[in-house]
Amino acid sequence: MTSIVAIAGSLGKPSRTRLLVEDVARRVAARTSGAVTLVDVAELAPELGRSFSRPAAEPVETALAAIEKADLIVAGSPIYKGSYSGFFKHLIDLVDYRALTGAPVALLATGGSDRHALAVEHQMRPLFASFDALTLGTAVFVVDRDIGAEGHVADERVRARIETLVREASSAVAVRSSAAA
Ligand SMILES: Cc1cc2nc3c(=O)[nH]c(=O)nc-3n(C[C@H](O)[C@H](O)[C@H](O)COP(=O)(O)O)c2cc1C
Repeated sequence: MTSIVAIAGSLGKPSRTRLLVEDVARRVAARTSGAVTLVDVAELAPELGRSFSRPAAEPVETALAAIEKADLIVAGSPIYKGSYSGFFKHLIDLVDYRALTGAPVALLATGGSDRHALAVEHQMRPLFASFDALTLGTAVFVVDRDIGAEGHVADERVRARIETLVREASSAVAVRSSAAA
């Protein structure tokens, strides 16, 4: 069974980012017979804040091990001050720099303003490129006004981009599984 890890990088509860990454991860899992593990930095925050090296405090170490073994990472963060959240970055800073080579990564971000829509390209893509991970072509930014409390995305074009991302992610998982077989 393929392993899909959804990372929700928000400290907020409830979190639009969490709803988005869970939705994308579940849709890919349904198409690829995958199992989803959610890594939510809001839940890990106390232990994450105390973790400066590996092995990290539990349950952070378990989350890092899941990220390092994932067949697909669905990485989502809210945009805070023009970039991914600090706790999201701290989690990724603890990932072994050798572990994500070639791993498919779906990029998503939420934000209050369209002005930061390209943070997925300028901030998140280079972060995962530094691991030689395979970031998928369609990165998705969703502005707050386009996402409801249950995670429903109102804008048809954004919904279409998310569907494209789900397709790209499902193909990447299938290619990785057949290469491993
Ligand atoms: C500390 C902080 C800084 C923020 N900075 C930005 C920003 O620079 N650009 C932006 O578009 N939205 C910014 N926002 C808004 C959030 O990105 C937005 O509301 C997002 O949807 C929150 O995600 P969540 O519901 O998963 O917590 C900020 C929010 C907070 C709490």
